[in-house]
Amino acid sequence: MKILLIGSGGREHAIAWKLAQSKDVEKIWCAPGNGGMSREFECIPLNVADVGTAATLAERLAADLTIVGPELPLVNGIADRFAAQNLLLLGPSKTAAQLEGSKVFAKRFMERNGIPTAATIGVFDSADEARKALAAVEYPLVIKADGLAAGKGVLVTSSADEASEFITRAMEKKEFGDAGKQVLFEKALAGRELSYIILTDGKTFISLAPTRDHKRAFDGDQGPNTGGMGTYSTNDILPADLKATILNEVVKPTLDALAKEQIAYSGFIFFGLMLTPDGPKVLEYNCRLGDPETQSILMRADFDIAKACYDAATGKLDASVAKWKPEASICVVMASEGYPGDPVVGKKIKGLPEAEQLSGVAVFHAGTRHEDDGFYTHGGRILGVAATGGTLGEARLAAYGAVDKIQIDGAHYRKDIGVAAPAADETAGTKAALGTQNG
Ligand code: AMP
Ligand code: GLY
Repeated sequence: MKILLIGSGGREHAIAWKLAQSKDVEKIWCAPGNGGMSREFECIPLNVADVGTAATLAERLAADLTIVGPELPLVNGIADRFAAQNLLLLGPSKTAAQLEGSKVFAKRFMERNGIPTAATIGVFDSADEARKALAAVEYPLVIKADGLAAGKGVLVTSSADEASEFITRAMEKKEFGDAGKQVLFEKALAGRELSYIILTDGKTFISLAPTRDHKRAFDGDQGPNTGGMGTYSTNDILPADLKATILNEVVKPTLDALAKEQIAYSGFIFFGLMLTPDGPKVLEYNCRLGDPETQSILMRADFDIAKACYDAATGKLDASVAKWKPEASICVVMASEGYPGDPVVGKKIKGLPEAEQLSGVAVFHAGTRHEDDGFYTHGGRILGVAATGGTLGEARLAAYGAVDKIQIDGAHYRKDIGVAAPAADETAGTKAALGTQNG
């Protein structure tokens, strides 16, 4: 099988790394890929927003399958374009991708299909209307820009001033472009979050290993929201009864609703869940794999994902194919100075070979560039340093041991990835060993 993989992040590096382990995969092209991917795979320049050029590329390469990492091409209709040209692609149609591309679309879909989610307070088309509505709301309040905003379009706040300022930024200063034309107010939910991702061919599905993301920039969940500063995966975060509830109340109702509304779906569905005392509720749908969830998930995957992706794209997914290593996994993101704001880039990355040779460790590149004398930083999130271990504590030690080998001027990373884990006995030892933590 010859596969074209679209995207350039740590998620795509992990996908390519895992695809390459399949005996059926003869060739992987990455478009555009990144510095780290270019060392292992043939990378081809591509503006991922341009779905027409992507289709021309897949046709020219005679790729057997195209896998799409990021949401933008999906929301722009890459699946429809490929289908029109008889090219095989794994990913939902433009209509289906609205589940991620429009928070209002997703909310209405959940409401009319009885899928548990935070209650809507209102949807507003102008800053004046939205500000007027602030007078009557209870705090904390959640405000969401309707469209794609790279993880920055959501505010959870207890401050009316902050809410008003966010409305100005989204709707008047248009910081998120067209994504901020409409805003949604919803009730804030409390609980722990869980990233639950499935792969589906539209009829059947497999659940991927559960993960938890750390979205805030700094330790102890402080600072601004980011695309994700690190993830971990253990079986402990998903007891069997919780999994059954998620499947019965969220996953199956979503698939049934898609079928009922005649929205064909192949690809990944990412359920961003809040585990509330009243049960799991959907904070968001994504129409793709998560980044950096994928890095932790694929560290544990013990099956041929190339075959699973091909089968899902051709409507022949075998629901029993997924096998997961019992070990825990973790991914620690190293980010550039300034991230999630304007990142400082162009810094030399030192110590990669020393980190990569550690047992159980894989270093996935995101914002990197390869030069003759090594790697340089080239984006906000630079590397995802991933590891497995018998326990989450062991995985943490391995990953942070690798992080310690890597030097990048000004870079920052969270020291508490995987600490807020459920099994206290596993984390207690690591907290002491790493000398960190706020709990
Ligand atoms: P979203 O992009 O919709 O997943 O939102 C990004 C983050 O904002 C989520 O991962 C949560 O941490 C937070 N969030 C979103 N919606 C809510 C909500 N209704 N209540 C509390 N936190 C939320
Ligand atoms: N890490 C969250 C996301 O990929 O949306």
